[in-house]
Amino acid sequence: MSELPSFRQLTQDDCDILEKALPEPGDVDFQTKLSRQTPTGYGLYGLFLYDQLIGIGQIRRQGPNDPKAASHSSYPEIGNIYIVPGMRRRGYAHLLIKHLEAILRGENYVLVGLAVGDDNTAALSLYKKLGYHKLVSIGTKPPHGTVDRHYLQKEL
Ligand SMILES: CC(C)(COP(=O)(O)OP(=O)(O)OC[C@H]1O[C@@H](n2cnc3c(N)ncnc32)[C@H](O)[C@@H]1OP(=O)(O)O)[C@@H](O)C(=O)NCCC(=O)NCCS
Repeated sequence: MSELPSFRQLTQDDCDILEKALPEPGDVDFQTKLSRQTPTGYGLYGLFLYDQLIGIGQIRRQGPNDPKAASHSSYPEIGNIYIVPGMRRRGYAHLLIKHLEAILRGENYVLVGLAVGDDNTAALSLYKKLGYHKLVSIGTKPPHGTVDRHYLQKEL
């Protein structure tokens, strides 16, 4: 990684750059995601390199939204981690997640969770390297089809 990236929370004004830079993340469109931020405590953050959006990550402060995970604990989640294909394997996802964790630590949270599909070897390896460990299996959930999903957590 030669040049230093920057981070900022995205707003509804960023819909255009999100749509140009990234495919739709999961089952909810960007406009909806960004409009939900303030009332729900969600925050969608962008990772920029020379003013180009190269990745996103989300914080959900209201705690696990999966009922099976929520029965185990209550703490914020990280989700929607995505790095554009041409910028992968350069440490940017690692850096982005560290940034999101630092935000949560600054808000005095002591635990963070996230969900990941069993078949996502890249993400599983990334989260393991960052110190996340499996809390519980949460089964399948659209749009992930038949892939088993795990809920991971980390002490901040
Ligand atoms: C998963 C993803 C976010 C990783 O982004 P990235 O910027 O390439 O990750 P990093 O460069 O920070 O990698 C950090 C570590 O993650 C793991 N990793 C990342 N990509 C990997 C791959 N393709 N295969 C295996 N391990 C991988 C490695 O352990 C890597 O460390 P290393 O490079 O020292 O071996 C990216 O591949 C992506 O956007 N995938 C599509 C969306 C997605 O699956 N998001 C996660 C949803 S839970």
